[in-house]
Amino acid sequence: MKRAVVAALIKSVIITAVCTAAAACALLSPDTGKEAGENPTLITAGFRLNAPLGLNLESAAFYVPEDNPLTEEKVKLGKRLYFDPVLSIDGTVSCASCHVPEKGFADPNLFSIGVRGQTGTRQAPTIINRVFSRAQFWDGRAATLEEQALGPITNPIEMGNPDIKVVLERLKKDPSYIEQFDRAFPRSDAVDESGVTEKNLARAIAGFERTIMSGNSPFDRFIEGDKSAMSESAARGYQLYLSKANCATCHVSFNFTDEAYHNLGVGITARKPDLGRFTVSKLEGHQGAFKTPTLREIANTAPYMSDGSLKTLEEVVDYYDRGAAPNRWLSPKIKPLGLTVEEKRDLVEFLKALSGEVVWYGKEEDEKKKKSEEGQEGGKRAEAQEAAQGAAGARLL
Ligand code: HEC
Ligand code: HEC
Repeated sequence: MKRAVVAALIKSVIITAVCTAAAACALLSPDTGKEAGENPTLITAGFRLNAPLGLNLESAAFYVPEDNPLTEEKVKLGKRLYFDPVLSIDGTVSCASCHVPEKGFADPNLFSIGVRGQTGTRQAPTIINRVFSRAQFWDGRAATLEEQALGPITNPIEMGNPDIKVVLERLKKDPSYIEQFDRAFPRSDAVDESGVTEKNLARAIAGFERTIMSGNSPFDRFIEGDKSAMSESAARGYQLYLSKANCATCHVSFNFTDEAYHNLGVGITARKPDLGRFTVSKLEGHQGAFKTPTLREIANTAPYMSDGSLKTLEEVVDYYDRGAAPNRWLSPKIKPLGLTVEEKRDLVEFLKALSGEVVWYGKEEDEKKKKSEEGQEGGKRAEAQEAAQGAAGARLL
């Protein structure tokens, strides 16, 4: 297929997949809409969601529940909660400890470290572009982000609270939190409850998470028509991704995922096998199947796979090339690929071209703060240096 045809195809898939979820439709206010070449924007309850180039806020995958529209006060509160270790039993772990903004909102550790230094058995995935994904976790056991958000808080090896009540009590001890919850969930609101409650805690965190996105990668600019945005090697890799390497059968559309579960032999051949989706669905064939993850920011989110067993993108491509790890339930879509050394290199180059601009609510403010802190540090260092030089000068005199 010619590249232009492929680009047009991808676009038409994106455009035809408009607004099938009722909740998403309800939120598509008259202010939405994307002109070719423009970054998509969505206004919900007065809150403007700006998505970087390449993401489609009108896709059927876009999901914000009807009872949790995005509002400024809510995502602001969600952001504070996301970064606050007060959510953990001993005040040492926040969501950001395991989903690190500077690391593509993933965890560079093989297994994340929770309270009291404990570790689990699954690799922490990136949480970018969650607004395009309904079921959460590698096995999809949380139906929504709202449901997911409470999971780590009471998980004994993550944030370690015996129940949500103790967390709510802790939050209520801080008058500024009470005030913020009241503002985010006012009594007059159509929302069913106000104040510091379990539901509202989950709603605020989920709201903030929906603002964490990645797009505007060299690939997106390439698709928009800037043929110099990707290297020739990456462009060849893109063709392989669509054809010989067969990646696009599962990593489809603008977020590079079919949101479905497949067995690639990851974790299933371990001494203590991870049955993945089967533990949730109990469906024959779901043994060792995991959710197809997005490939955006992939160069920044190593190690790879639900068990973190592959360290580099080269290792991932080799793994697929040899037909993954054969087992009883291996996906029929997985076959040895017979890629040449150069083709493997091209494919890796393409994957690297999927890292772009990561945005989240309040990012600019965060960066300004960081800069001024660095500036102050720098200033202090310069002052100390001057003082030291002065002292040295004084000694010389
Ligand atoms: C101790 C580390 C740790 C902490 C703390 C933590 N997470 Fe996670 N997170 C993980 C791991 C590991 C997984 C994968 C678990 C699984 O799939 O079974 C995960 C999965 C997720 C997912 C699913 C992503 C996807 O693609 O399906 C989301 C969303 C998420 N976490 C958000 C949060 C939020 C919000 C918080 C804070 C309330 C949080 N996490 C705290 C380690 C952590
Ligand atoms: C049968 C569907 C399917 C095909 C085909 C497929 N993938 Fe995947 N991919 C998945 C699933 C499912 C996972 C997660 C598996 C796990 O962790 O257990 C995954 C994981 C990955 C990861 C690691 C992501 C992370 O965050 O850890 C990368 C990178 C990746 N795939 C790239 C590719 C490339 C490149 C190709 C083509 C050579 C490809 N995939 C073909 C379904 C597929």
